[in-house]
Order: sequence, then C-alpha cells, then structure tokens
Amino acid sequence: MFAKETYIRRRQQLKATLKSGLLLFLGNDECGMNYADNTYHFRQDSTFLYFFGSDYAGLAAVIDIDEDREIIFGNELTIDDIVWMGTQPTISEKSERVGISETLPMGELKNYLARAAAKGQPIHFLPPYRGDHKLWLSELLGIHPAELAAKSSVPFIRAVVDQRNYKSAEEIAQIEEAVNTSVEMHVTAMRMVRPGVKESEIAAAVTEVAMRQGGNLSFPVIATINGQTLHNHCHSNVLKEGQLFLLDAGAENTMHYAGDLTSTMPVSGHFTERQRTVFDINHRAYTAAVNALKPGVPFRDVHMIAMTEICKGMKELGLLKGDPAEAARIGAYALFMPCGLGHMMGLDVHDMENLGEVYVGYDGQPKSTQFGFKSLRLARPLESGFVFTVEPGIYFIPELIDKWRAEKMYTDFICYDKLDAWKDFGGIRNEEDYLITADGARRLGNHKPSSAEEIEAVCNA
Ligand code: GLY
Ligand code: MN
Ligand code: MN
Repeated sequence: MFAKETYIRRRQQLKATLKSGLLLFLGNDECGMNYADNTYHFRQDSTFLYFFGSDYAGLAAVIDIDEDREIIFGNELTIDDIVWMGTQPTISEKSERVGISETLPMGELKNYLARAAAKGQPIHFLPPYRGDHKLWLSELLGIHPAELAAKSSVPFIRAVVDQRNYKSAEEIAQIEEAVNTSVEMHVTAMRMVRPGVKESEIAAAVTEVAMRQGGNLSFPVIATINGQTLHNHCHSNVLKEGQLFLLDAGAENTMHYAGDLTSTMPVSGHFTERQRTVFDINHRAYTAAVNALKPGVPFRDVHMIAMTEICKGMKELGLLKGDPAEAARIGAYALFMPCGLGHMMGLDVHDMENLGEVYVGYDGQPKSTQFGFKSLRLARPLESGFVFTVEPGIYFIPELIDKWRAEKMYTDFICYDKLDAWKDFGGIRNEEDYLITADGARRLGNHKPSSAEEIEAVCNA
C-alpha cells in the first residue's frame, strides 16, 4: 500500500471536484467458480483500491461530502472465516491505514443510503461490471439492474477518470515494476520458442514469472501461433518450423498495477523473408507512432500515423493501391489492423474500461462506430502523466478478407486478388508501454527486445 496520505489526498481531490452529494464505492467480493467456497482468484475493484487501498473482499465505502463523513462498511471475520481462511486486520485497522476512522457493519449501508435518499441527497455510483454488484446495487438503491448503467453518475465517473488518468510518480514506479516483470516474461518466451514446444508450456512459463514476483497476470495470457486472432486464449497448439509465435502477456505487481507487452517471434529462430518484411513494416509503424508522442498530440493522430505506415507497407507488398494516407484516413487500413493503436493502462490493463472509453480515452467526445475506428480506445490529446500502450499489428484474417471482398469494400484501395496468397500468414504485433512527460514521452520499464535482430538474437542465445 502507499502511505495513508496518498489515499487521503486522493479523496480530498475527489471531494473538491464533486463538491456535494454522497459517493458510493463497492469493493469486490469473492466469486465462486463452481460453488461458493471454490473461488476465482480475488481481485479488488480498482477504483476501490485507488481511494481506499484495502485489498480485501467484502468492503464498501461512502464519502458523504455534505455530512463530511468517510465511512468504510464491512463485517468482522467470524471464527469460521478465521478457521478456514486465516485472520485479517479488523475493519478499523484496515480503515486506519488509509486515514479513515469511521467504520460501520455492512448491514448499516442500506440504512445509511435510505436516510440519505429520504433527505433528498444525491447518491452517486459508478456503473457496475459484475453481476453480484448489479444485484447488490439494485437491492441497496431500489433501481432495476437493467437501469443501473444509465443511472450511474456521469460527474462521479468523470471525476474518478480525471484523477486516475494522471499517474503520480509513485504510481509510475509501480507500473515500471510491473512492466519489468512483463519484460522478463517476454524474454523467457523468446528463449523457449522452438519447434515441438507447446503454446501451453510457454503460457505456463510466463505465468510463473509473473507469480514468482508475488503478483499475478494483468490479463489472461495470449500465447499463440494464430496471432491474427486478437484476443486468442487457446493454448492447445504445438509450435512448428516456420511459424510465427505471438505472446501478448503482462504482469500485475503486488500493488495491482499492470504491464502489457506483445512480442512476435520466429519459431525456427529466424524470420522467413516474408515474415521479416511484414515485421519490419510493423516496426516502422511502431517507431513512427512512438516518435510522434508528446503532450498536446491527439492519440487519434498517432494512430493515423501508424496506420498510414502500415498502408504504405501494404502498398509495397502489392496488397494496397492508391494513396496510403487516404487508405488509412477512410478506414481501409482496418483490414490489416482492425483494432486501435493503444489504450490507457494503470490499475487495470485497459485502465477504467468499466467507466467508459468515451470518458477515459475521448474526454467525453463521441467515438466512431466504423469498423476499425470503433476499436480505438484512446483518441484524446495526450497529457503529461498519461500511461498507455502503443501496439500496432498487421493481421491477415481469412474470414475478414473474404467478407470485405464479398462486400466490395474499398475496392479502389485493396488488391483482393493478391490477398489469397497471404491468408495463411497469421499476425504480428509489437506492444510497449509509454508515459507522457512534460515535453515528450518515455518508454516504461526495461528494454524489451523488439527489433527483428534483437528478437532473433534472444531466440538463438
Ligand atoms: N492485452 C490486451 C491488449 O493488448 O489490449
Ligand atoms: Mn494492450
Ligand atoms: Mn497486450
């Protein structure tokens, strides 16, 4: 945990922004995999962690701005809890560590909210993302679960986003720790790839690196010979000579800050000529994007710089014709790169995705619904303190190629007759994590081998 002053300061800033009303925070609870006592790995809600630090299940909190009260709600452990799960600090001790002196049993939360509602006090809550929270909020506030998202508080969402989007020096140190572990995960994989190794063996090895540091994964590992499938969690294949292997994996450190990196490596230790050409085009796009990072530049523009580079490269391969910048501008690039260039990262790997990309990545501005652009999660002008990923990729997705061809999409730009020969290529991505500084940008964490030469050198070491 950070020092209690950090949490006190964060709550003071939130109160100063919102000025009045009651703010309700629900901590996460244990969640049964197949019965109540056989639980998934516990993960505290990130906004709860940010303001209340407490990494325990079964807590909620209220900041009553009008009454100047900060209360943590929770129940003390029973002897059964202690016998089965071990002991914990008391609710008062947990609260004291973050500068809160008032605690109440969980059973009091509903009464507290009912009294506030009876007084006409606005109750601000965030959009719930777990089923049990939907039911709990519905029970607490008398709102139908289906209406909770629409009735969640936009001022509360915006105030939280406006704090969590700007990473402090102590948060950046935590993120760098997570990124350093993530780099170790990737180097581990580069040393392992060879024909005959199973995707599952590499997934297990990189998970071990993350867990050995005392933390965990920041998202389920993607370890695949089918890199063209963007979020592919199948690990059942055996690596074969000549294939590409894509690892998208990151660690979450003990403070729950995330790293998120992707590497693409040759199973045989050396890229084929065709793989190397596409790899280098993608690396050019990555470098062009990184060179454009600085405060004030909209990330949408950085995305377009990278997409233009990819379109130039596709033209060099004879897969695209016409003006590459125009092909990128109108969205034809999305055949090769259907996702966005990056996303905010912090306590969540896709930071605050639960609060809405429109607020986190678009500062409240509308988001495109067009295929490709709709998956750009970050578009707003960059500001000092933002932490995010840069992750261009080039993907050959046979089903998408066939669909676009049948629909005659962008036929002025895309050379469909040439694409049949590329349907077995797979996908390539490089992903690294960046901080915007006062006058530019800084890559976070230790260096990850990312050029073709560097990757081949580690694969063959
Ligand atoms: N790890 C998922 C992503 O890169 O967005
Ligand atoms: Mn990412
Ligand atoms: Mn990733």
